[in-house]
This record gives sequence, structure tokens and C-alpha cells, in this order.
Amino acid sequence: MTDVPPAASVEKFRDWRFGLFVHWGLYALPARHEWVKNRERLTDEDYQPYFDHFEPDLYDPTKWARAAREAGMKYAVLTTKHHEGFCLWDSAVSDYTVAKTAWGKDLVGPFVEACRAEGLGVGFYHSLIDWHHPEFPIDLVHPQRDDEEAIAKAAGRDIKVYAEYLHAQTRELLTNYGPIDIMWFDFSYPGRLYDDGRDGHGKGRDDWQSEKLMAMVRELQPDILINDRLDIPGDFVTPEQYQPDGPMQRDGVPVLWEACQTLNGSWGYDRDNLDWKSPELLVKMLVDSVSKDGNLLLNVGPTGRGEFDPRALATLASIGEWMRLHERSVRGARPSEYAAPPDSRFTQKGNRLYLHLFSWPMGHVHLSGLGGKVKYAQLLNDASEIKRIENDPHQTAQNTTMGGVSGDTLTLKLPIQKPNVLVPVIELFLS
Ligand code: GLC
Repeated sequence: MTDVPPAASVEKFRDWRFGLFVHWGLYALPARHEWVKNRERLTDEDYQPYFDHFEPDLYDPTKWARAAREAGMKYAVLTTKHHEGFCLWDSAVSDYTVAKTAWGKDLVGPFVEACRAEGLGVGFYHSLIDWHHPEFPIDLVHPQRDDEEAIAKAAGRDIKVYAEYLHAQTRELLTNYGPIDIMWFDFSYPGRLYDDGRDGHGKGRDDWQSEKLMAMVRELQPDILINDRLDIPGDFVTPEQYQPDGPMQRDGVPVLWEACQTLNGSWGYDRDNLDWKSPELLVKMLVDSVSKDGNLLLNVGPTGRGEFDPRALATLASIGEWMRLHERSVRGARPSEYAAPPDSRFTQKGNRLYLHLFSWPMGHVHLSGLGGKVKYAQLLNDASEIKRIENDPHQTAQNTTMGGVSGDTLTLKLPIQKPNVLVPVIELFLS
């Protein structure tokens, strides 16, 4: 057992480049963000109707996995338990599970099987935080954080007992469902203070017993990748709701990373949310991540009936159409040593360099450093040739004759009409 994953797991993950995040739990029923219990300071009693009425009769994980595959995703990560504490599988150490709802049936197993049938890698998100467990100490992110009576009653809670529960459930998940590719814990907040400076009783590595937990995960699943939210270094870094400005590093050393992003700002189903990102923006985020040697994990929050809502499905389908034509500029691609022109990104795979144009220039695009280095160029969507112009450094500009351009700059002649795709890509064949 080592404290690093096998190199094969790392390269497989990097090649995937694009995955599906699924946030699903009781919070799909209030349908106003997965932190609804925290935001509205709901008690367990307030929250019980969602448990009582959880009935995902339209749940069909094959539809989820197929939508992901057709969107160009290669792995999927499901919330086995979110901060609310509700378990999507029949845990032997909890009654707050789907098995005890009227629905009664395991949701995790069918998800795993459907993902495998569609050729997707499988990941489990598992919340370190648990707002339902009787031994989880109330802290500054707990729904009862302002309830003095509840805080007094909870004074004797023992985080060690909760940690045993956390480890026991992690063991169940990594024992009962075969090979799992990713363990996505969430999240640590050691030393966090209330706004007025009071101790927020934040939780980190000692509370979770993170070293022991990570060692157990590796022992149960030797090929698994573990994320970075146990308050100890993980196998990959997880920027959330932002795009890094470049390849991510830890202490100056490049590190594996995956940006996790939402369709509309909410991880859980959020019925009235109108803050949807366009498919074009999401494709740009995917390309941006790959150009910086990262992955994109894009989230869908299914409804209380177990379906992806129409907006989510339409967005995934639009991305899928772009991936159908442009997949090879993303899958298995890496950053390029060449500097991309303004408002564009380069990705590269062997001697093929991909220029992703985030805005469509008028007539030409100039590629510094690539003069004399490209033997052919084409639009990737339809394989139509793009004419290359090798610049003469002695040529002066005259009327419509282009001049004054460095000889090590390659100029590409572009059609005026932008190709009818979300993000046009030019495939450059390096000499
Ligand atoms: C944050 C949110 C949590 C969400 C996670 C996804 O930790 O608190 O709700 O599951 O981000 O990365």
C-alpha cells in the first residue's frame, strides 16, 4: 500500500478530461439548493417530510449514464451521502437511508452498473459533514448553529464516534460495489471562525482521522484516486466554481486537477434557478481546463423523481454535439508549449495542435512561433482546409497586402463566416 495512486490511474483520469457530477438526495424535493437545510436552519423534524415523500419513481441511471456518454463524458461521480446525512444505499450503520424510505431500493448499485455498461468510470462523492448524525458536533455550518437549546443538548456529542461511522460507511461503499475509480470526499474547514471571531468548531484531518481513512481507502481500492478535501494532500486538486489561471501546482510542482462546475450555480436540483450557463460557455470551460492540463467535472442535480430536467438534458446534448465533432481535441489531449493567440486556447496531442477559437477573428489569425512548423491545417468540424500564410519579414504592408509580420509567425486565412459550432477548432499538423 502506498500513499500515492498507480501512475496508470493518473493517466487514465487525465485522458478522460470530462466527467459528470451528480448531486442527488432528499434536497431534490425542497428543490432550492443542496444546502437548504443549512440556509433555512431546518431541524430534522422540518426535513422529515422529504424523507417521507422520497419516491424516485422515474429513476433510471441508464438514462443518466447514456446522457453523460453522449455528452462526451468518460466518468461519473455520484453523491452517496451529502451534508444532509441521507444515504443513497442500504447502510448497515444507519437508518437514515433509502432502504428505510417507502422507495426502499438501493440507488448506488444501479448507478454503478449503468455507468459501467456505458463504459464510464465510477466515482463516489461522500460528505464528511453530516447534519443528521446524532454524534456530529454542531458547528458554524450546521443547520442548528444558532439554536442555543440544540447546541446545549448536543454538548456531549463525540466526533470520535462520528468518525467511526464515517469510516464504516466508506468501507461499505468501497467493499460492496466492485472497483471504484474515484473517491470524492467533501469537505474540511479546520479552524474556521464565526464572523464575530468566535471559534466555529471547524473540522479537519484530526476530526475525520483522515490519514487512517485515506489508508483504508487505498487498501480497499488500490487503483483509486482520492481528492484533496480530507485536509491532507490528495491525488488531485479540486477547484470549485472557478477556472484556474493556469496548470495547477502544489508547492511549485504541477499537480493533477479537476475543476468541478455547476450548470446554474446550484449542485442540487434548484427548480426556480435561472442562472444557467450556456453550452458555449461550458465547452469553453472544458477546453480551458484541458489547455491547462485539467479535467472538468460538470454537475447535474436530478429531480426528486430521479430524472435529469429538460434544461440539463438539452445542455448535455449541445455539448455532446460539439464533442461528436471535436472530441479528439480534448480526449487524451495535453497543454501545448506554444502560446495561443488572444481569446483562444491550444491543446495538443502528438503532432496535432488544436486551436480553439473562443471568438471568431475577421479573416486571419496569427500564430506566433509557428512559422514554418505547420504542414497542414483544417477546420476540425468538417475537415475543410485552412490556408496557411508563411510571412516574409521583409514584406511591408501595402493596401490589402499583409506585411510587417515576423517570419516566425504563421498566419491562417479564415472564412468570414464562423463555422456553425459552439467553439470552432482548427487542427494544425505540425511538421
Ligand atoms: C461545496 C458544497 C457542496 C458541494 C461541493 C461540490 O463543498 O458545500 O454542497 O457538494 O461543493 O464540490
